[in-house]
Amino acid sequence: MSWWLIGVMSGTSLDGIDLALTRLHPEHGIELIDAECLPFPTELHNELKALCQPGNDEIRRAGLAGQAWAELTANGIHALLARQGLKPEQILAIGSHGQTIRHHPELGFSVQIGAPALLAERCRIQVVSDFRSRDLAAGGEGAPLVPAFHQWLLEDPEQTRAVINIGGFANLTLLRPEQPVTGFDSGPGNILLDAWIARHQNQAFDAEGRWAASGSAHPELVRQLLADPYFCRPAPKSTGREYFNAQWLEQQLQQFGQQLPEADIQASLLELTAQSIAGGLLSQASDCRSVFICGGGAANTRLLHRLREILAPLEVQTTAAVGVDPDWMEAMAFAWLAWRCLQGQSGNLPTVTGAAGPRVLGAVYPG
Ligand SMILES: Nc1ncnc2c1ncn2[C@@H]1O[C@H](COP(=O)(O)OP(=O)(O)O)[C@@H](O)[C@H]1O
Ligand SMILES: [Mg+2]
Repeated sequence: MSWWLIGVMSGTSLDGIDLALTRLHPEHGIELIDAECLPFPTELHNELKALCQPGNDEIRRAGLAGQAWAELTANGIHALLARQGLKPEQILAIGSHGQTIRHHPELGFSVQIGAPALLAERCRIQVVSDFRSRDLAAGGEGAPLVPAFHQWLLEDPEQTRAVINIGGFANLTLLRPEQPVTGFDSGPGNILLDAWIARHQNQAFDAEGRWAASGSAHPELVRQLLADPYFCRPAPKSTGREYFNAQWLEQQLQQFGQQLPEADIQASLLELTAQSIAGGLLSQASDCRSVFICGGGAANTRLLHRLREILAPLEVQTTAAVGVDPDWMEAMAFAWLAWRCLQGQSGNLPTVTGAAGPRVLGAVYPG
C-alpha cells in the first residue's frame, strides 16, 4: 500500500512556500516525486514579516494574509498536479504547516496562518493543518516537530546520528540507537544573516556565505552574542522571530560599542550560527558519529565549512548523502505528519518537545 501526499512548508525565513509531492510507502520510506518553492510576491512577503510583530489592525490583516497564502499554495498545487498528470482525488492529503506569525510556547500558543479550509476548498483535497497546538496543549513547546520524521527516515541502529535543519532557525535531532530521540532549536539559523545582508547589501540572503567569508568574525562580538541566555538554556526549547530579530541584533551591536566593518558583522553572525549549532550538538551528543544537514543553510558553503572545522573529526554532510534532498526535508516531514494524523498516530516526540505524552497532531479539513 502506498499513498500520494503533499507537504507544504513555509518557514521563518519567509523565502517562499515549499511544496513536496511525495509517495509514501509506510513500510519502506518516502519518495520525493516533485517539488517546488513558490516565492512570495513582495507585498505578501512584507505583510507576513510585519505580522510577526505586534501591529495595528492585525486580526483583519492576518485573515487576509492567510487567504493570500492559501490561494498561492492552491495555485502551486494545481500546477504541480497538472505537471505530474495527477488528479486531486488521487492525493490522500495535503499536510500544510502554514506560516508562523507568533510562537509563544511560554504562554502555551503558537499561531500559524494559511486558511486551511480555503486550501481544501480550492484543491478539493483534504488538508491537515494546525500541527503545533496539540503538543502545546499537552505542555510541550509545539516545536520542533520534524524529529519524529527524521527518526522514521534516518535512524541507524549502529550509531548516533544528528540531523540539523538550518532554516530561519536551526533545529537539531539526535538519533541514538535504542534511546529516546532528543532535539531542540539551537537558535538562529539564517535569520540574522538574511536580516543583515538585506539591510546593507539589499540581498535576500548571503549566497554561499560569500559576504560572510569576505569578512572576519570578531571574537569578542561572537562571545557576547553567544552569551545570550537562550544558548545555555536546557532543552526542551524552541525560539522564533519574536526573540531573535533585527531589534535583538541592534541591541547586541549597541552593547558591543565598537564600530566594525559590515562584512565582519556578517562573519560574526555566521559564526554565531555555527558555534551555537555545534555547541548544542556536542553538549547533548558527544558520542555522535555523523551529522546530516538540511534546510536552506545546507547551501551556505561557508557555514558548512565552519561546521566541519568546529566539529572535526565528526563527519558533516548534507542529507543528500542519505538520499534526501536537503531543500525538501521539512516539506516532506509535513506530508508524513499529515499521514500520521490520518492514521491516528502521534507526530510529536515528548522527549523533544516536553509534552506530557505522544499526541496525534493536526486538524483535518475534509476535501
Ligand atoms: N545558496 C544559498 N547560499 C546561502 N544561503 C542560502 C542559499 N539558499 C538558501 N539559503 C538560505 O536558506 C534560507 C531558506 O531556508 P529554508 O530552509 O527555506 O528556511 P525556512 O524553513 O525558514 O523557510 C534562505 O533565507 C537563505 O538564508
Ligand atoms: Mg523556506
